[in-house]
Amino acid sequence: RQELDMLNGILTRKVKFADRQGRQTQLRQRRLVSMDSPNLVGLETTIIPVNWSGRIQILSALDGRVSNTLVERYRQLNNEHLEQVGAGTSGEELIWLQVETVQSHIRIAEAARTRAFRDGRPIHPRRSIVRKLGYVGQEMEIPIKEGQSLGIEKIVAIYSSRDRAISESLIGALEEIRRADDFAELYKRHARSWNRLWERCNIEVAASHDWISQALNLHIFHLLQTASTHSVDLDVGIPPRGLNGEAYRGLIMWDEIFIFPFLNLRLPDITRSLLLYRYRRLHRARWAARQAGYEGAMFPWQSGSDGREEGQTWHLNPMSGCWIPDHTQLERHIGLAIAYNVWQYYQVTGDLDFMSSYGAEMLVEIARFWASKAQYNECIDRYEIRGIMGPDEFHEKYPGAEGAGIDNNAYTNVMVAWTLGRALDAIQQLPLEHHRDLREVLHIRDEELALWDHISRRMYVPFHDGIVNQFDGYERLEELDMAAYGRKYCNIHRLDRILRAEGDTPDRYKISKQADVLMLFYLFSSDELSELFSKMGYRMDQDIMSRTIDYYAERTCHGSTLSRVVHAWVLSRRDRELSWNLFLEALRSDISDIQGGTTHEGIHLGAMASTVDIVQRCYAGIEARGEVLWFDPCLPLEVERLRFDIEYRHHQVEVGIDRNRLRLISLTRDVAPIKIGFKGKIQELSPGSALELDLN
Ligand code: BGC
Repeated sequence: RQELDMLNGILTRKVKFADRQGRQTQLRQRRLVSMDSPNLVGLETTIIPVNWSGRIQILSALDGRVSNTLVERYRQLNNEHLEQVGAGTSGEELIWLQVETVQSHIRIAEAARTRAFRDGRPIHPRRSIVRKLGYVGQEMEIPIKEGQSLGIEKIVAIYSSRDRAISESLIGALEEIRRADDFAELYKRHARSWNRLWERCNIEVAASHDWISQALNLHIFHLLQTASTHSVDLDVGIPPRGLNGEAYRGLIMWDEIFIFPFLNLRLPDITRSLLLYRYRRLHRARWAARQAGYEGAMFPWQSGSDGREEGQTWHLNPMSGCWIPDHTQLERHIGLAIAYNVWQYYQVTGDLDFMSSYGAEMLVEIARFWASKAQYNECIDRYEIRGIMGPDEFHEKYPGAEGAGIDNNAYTNVMVAWTLGRALDAIQQLPLEHHRDLREVLHIRDEELALWDHISRRMYVPFHDGIVNQFDGYERLEELDMAAYGRKYCNIHRLDRILRAEGDTPDRYKISKQADVLMLFYLFSSDELSELFSKMGYRMDQDIMSRTIDYYAERTCHGSTLSRVVHAWVLSRRDRELSWNLFLEALRSDISDIQGGTTHEGIHLGAMASTVDIVQRCYAGIEARGEVLWFDPCLPLEVERLRFDIEYRHHQVEVGIDRNRLRLISLTRDVAPIKIGFKGKIQELSPGSALELDLN
């Protein structure tokens, strides 16, 4: 039996086993990765021989021979990344191991302290050392009587050469382990840190099923393990599969666009630090743009350490065993996601300091890239963007075409228009001296600003049959009988792999792996989207929105877990039943491994964070725009009540929503009032006060 106590952040494993002679033994193990001391982990094991007496052999080790073999299709790739630097012992209780990553030469040191107890009293068995290359352990044999308990406590300190305020990783680890408390104390402090985090992050949903709140909090738990308050000071990005698995090899993609909204409203310091991860790699993105013949910064679709493009160029189709070219590097929309994230963080926090020092520069360079990529088409008097890919990875090129890429992906084009507008806003909003500095340092000319403005008004957006067209030529693709494929193959999430294994290609069909056009309805409120389209000279009303949503909802097979959350969101006010079912499926993504075998390759952090964000922003209708925090609650029929806290412009606000009322309580003192928007009216919420709004 395994129990995860999320409130206190501890995993307990209980095993009862018997050998062939009928000797029964109980084992209980508790483990934690400290949320209080970021360099400590602990493992406490208790063994009780139920009906026998004898000797128990314990081996407590540090194993640096680990290899990355969790993802079956990567197994033939190089998967050993560590080399031993040294290993040894120190005193009776300590062993240590230091390794170095073979390519990046980062040193990692672990020092372990193992203590043994009989019926809770310390004992000192003789220890012998076991050494192999990349491995060190201590072995001990302990006599034990029926019913007695043998306790083994192992605490490990971990440091790497990238840690700050250390002399060297091994010295750091050894010093820390010598100072470390015992498991009980470590656990107490760790649990207190988790309890404090939950005070800010907990979400309560009174819904038709009890497990919904629990699943949401599990998702928050995973998120806070991956991007914790301890990562604020580190140079780390947010990997799509958390730190739990090896899929995508830990590379950083666009999934943060699904993750930051939750963090912005709860722990904005974490978003800020994750945005700085991007900022530190801006120079590399500038170089990539220059190499490709563009201006500004072209961020990579998949990247790690130094921000170079590391996206694969070949992809293994596990259904056919064939390697096929992979063009996903053309998903240039990643830069637009970064721009969106910069702006959203700024809207929620009002952090002008960040905008002045980093945010505006990123927006400007991303805007520049797109302004140089967009081509003016005189015949239609509009700007076009050719040869890229949208979020829907089923369409890499036109059927039969030699080259990869499609033209005028609606999502990308609209996001470009929006980004250019925000880059202009950001420059305008900077305090005068920063404004001057930025223009001077980045050589921003008036003509350039005028060009951005023009592109943002004259961007081309394709339409067909009165709905937004996913890209130019999409309307000429063939329909695919998805139901027939559903009958033939029980799981059609990855129709691309099925079609390719049959010698066909998804490029030919009107089918989508994941939300593409619909991302627009996910990222923007209908008001903002209508404004955006009207600025470009297009109409976007409820009717077009509804028809566009229905059209793509029917043709999407959710090959990415990100897709369901987007659909659940955009359908929430339109088809409540479908939306709710998609939300429940998204909630089960990893709990039930709904893709049939991807969860052990790592959790799906984007989907996890987004399910929480659906409850938080979509059901509560929260939108941070300009100086106002708007609310427009719309609870699903299955949800009675919601309660959670958010942080907005230094205010901690308790949000309570039921069928009739929206209640906001400011839990903060000594800050300026904030503006709350509801049904077109703006009211102030002063520190320490409450607002009650009638939803009927
Ligand atoms: C999706 C991408 C996503 C990645 C990691 C892929 O299946 O198509 O949009 O970034 O998974 O979650």
